[in-house]
Amino acid sequence: MRTMTKHTALVLAAMLALACSPKDEIDRKVEDLLSKMTLHEKIGQMNQLSGGEWLVESAAKGEVGSILNCVDPAEINAVQRAAVEDSRLGIPILVSRDVIHGFRTIFPLPLGQAATFDPALVEKGAAASAREAVSSGIKWTFSPMLDIARDPRWGRVAEGSGEDPYLDALMGEAMVKGYRSEGLASCVKHFVGYGAAEGGRDYNTTGLTERMLRNVYFPAFKRAIDAGAETLMTSFNENDGIPSTGNRWLLTDILRNEWGFDGMVVTDWNSSGEMVAHGFASDLKHATEISVNAGVDMDMMSYGYISFLEELVKDGKVKESRIDDAVRNILRLKFRLGLFENPYVDENAVIAYDGETLAAARQAAVESAILLKNDGVLPLAKGMKILVTGPLADAPYEQMGTWAFDGEAEHTVTPLAALKESFNVIYEPGLAYSRDNSMAGIVKARQAASRADAIVVFVGEEAILSGEAHSLSSLDLQGAQSGLISAMKSTGKPVVVVVMAGRPLTIERDLANCGAMLYCFHPGTMGGPAIADLLSGVEVPSGKTPITFLRTAGQAPMYYNHTNSGRPNTGTETLLEDIPIAAGQTSLGCTSYYLDSGYGPLFPFGYGLSYTTFEYSNISLDSTRYGKDGIIKVEFDLSNTGKYDATETAQLYVRDLVGSVTRPVKELKRFGRFTLKAGETVHAGFELPVSELAFWNSEMEYTVEEGAFQLWVAGNSADGTPVEFTVE
Ligand code: GLC
Repeated sequence: MRTMTKHTALVLAAMLALACSPKDEIDRKVEDLLSKMTLHEKIGQMNQLSGGEWLVESAAKGEVGSILNCVDPAEINAVQRAAVEDSRLGIPILVSRDVIHGFRTIFPLPLGQAATFDPALVEKGAAASAREAVSSGIKWTFSPMLDIARDPRWGRVAEGSGEDPYLDALMGEAMVKGYRSEGLASCVKHFVGYGAAEGGRDYNTTGLTERMLRNVYFPAFKRAIDAGAETLMTSFNENDGIPSTGNRWLLTDILRNEWGFDGMVVTDWNSSGEMVAHGFASDLKHATEISVNAGVDMDMMSYGYISFLEELVKDGKVKESRIDDAVRNILRLKFRLGLFENPYVDENAVIAYDGETLAAARQAAVESAILLKNDGVLPLAKGMKILVTGPLADAPYEQMGTWAFDGEAEHTVTPLAALKESFNVIYEPGLAYSRDNSMAGIVKARQAASRADAIVVFVGEEAILSGEAHSLSSLDLQGAQSGLISAMKSTGKPVVVVVMAGRPLTIERDLANCGAMLYCFHPGTMGGPAIADLLSGVEVPSGKTPITFLRTAGQAPMYYNHTNSGRPNTGTETLLEDIPIAAGQTSLGCTSYYLDSGYGPLFPFGYGLSYTTFEYSNISLDSTRYGKDGIIKVEFDLSNTGKYDATETAQLYVRDLVGSVTRPVKELKRFGRFTLKAGETVHAGFELPVSELAFWNSEMEYTVEEGAFQLWVAGNSADGTPVEFTVE
């Protein structure tokens, strides 16, 4: 056999070296370590435990691969030392935490961050949060939450990016990138369809078809995974009778085989064990067999993996090769995060509340605020004598909202504190907390109003009223809050209402009792300065609703990107108060609406006012006919027709008029923030590849179907006049 020349050998060695990219280097290390592990040690890596003194002992025995709810750097180092120095193989622990909208500095709720329609700002906030968390020893966050939410009775609408798949996808991608940039691994959750819980009641059953999943619920997960999301969390719900944690089609066929995900899959808290309650597993051992064979790598707090997996492998119910694959996913993540090189946290280098982070949190709070009404009372003239009242005016804990575990209320700057910087403030809380029904405080507030030029009422929800397990069947303001607003209205003074809540509440009657309403999804640590600057006109509101605002909870679920039905609302329907006595059976017509609350929402998706006004004109396409590989070029003029320099989020919607399956009446496909001086007009545009009009059709093919389309460019999902085009 001809011997290889020296030159050829050198070339091959160089090619081999090049081919051994860091990825291959990590895979080599993973295989090397895996080959040394016992089955018990492998299973130890698949076990995640929540904080407590037991962690050190479990770590020393190599029986825990990850911990959560342990945030003290010294405690983290103690557990890490036990794993690295006392266990046989010294595999470091992956330390996790729910860093959902900040760690120490709390940013607006994710729903509020979605209202900014500003992915770059959200990415910056995620990076800032990651800096704080990583400096405390956290290397993995259970964020972003990508659950599409179409029902505000569900308390977890607070944690996601609302009802639209495109906005959800861009927000999720931004968070994944922001976390990653500072060494924090992300976890896209909850896979999948959790937000479609029947009745908006948390943990409840969902019945989404494969086509709904693929067209509405999957896109944000796929985009986040393509952006590098390191892990994914299964959801509590069963969909179509199968709990996600035991759904092999989801976790292996789709996630691994179709999407090529090479990250790690973790259950939600005991969601494996809960398959017994679901009636999908006979006991914890059976649940363990189901979830690990479905494709779950790590078990959060069911104890099933550490208790039964060894037995299941020996019984032949679980192949050791499946265990090996799970452990590969876990070890690969630990190597990628550099845990083997640097397992410990520097206890003297903890970052919290630095100026840059506080500034980012304030900017996010400014941009997340949505102006729903303004009869001209806003902005308030600085120096005015104002009565500040309401249970959310000076509520530092509530202002942070749900999932703010590590936020510290003493760092919250409340609106009351901030308003005193710009106004002559009289303060009367009126109510002690959002559920307070006592009238005594309202009487005092009413008396105080006589000394004020204007009144600002801070209402909304205590943090506990939204978030996990906190569903509501009524979305009206709790307690006597509406009464407080009404009492303020009766004084005849100008009334501004500021809402801080974890969800869109049904505030139609409260709107009637005020001249202006600013809506903030729990704005976080810097909410006070942001709101003060917005009320005084230093900042101009630019937020847009990321979720539909209902007139009544009975309208749920209601969302803008619905299909049309065969009997769509005509807008001429007869409402309850106008129905004649002894009206004939079909006299009211037969279209889709509510006799008592009509058809439309209180505010549509994408809605938000400014202190100025904007006009869209000259919307044009570069063609009226496009091939499937074409790019639609849209141009339009946007004018600031008012007196304030301000920012508008222009939105591009599309409708596919006829499909092999029915298509939404509108779908958001592009948006952009445009800052214009008063009187300025900008000529702007969007480009939209025709390929982005694809959907999963009647044949379950992902394709663009030929035919007629409409396209809007407007300031919300309800406005605008469409332009037409066709795809050939
Ligand atoms: C909770 C939540 C999940 C969270 C996890 C860890 O039950 O459903 O979103 O990340 O447990 O706290």
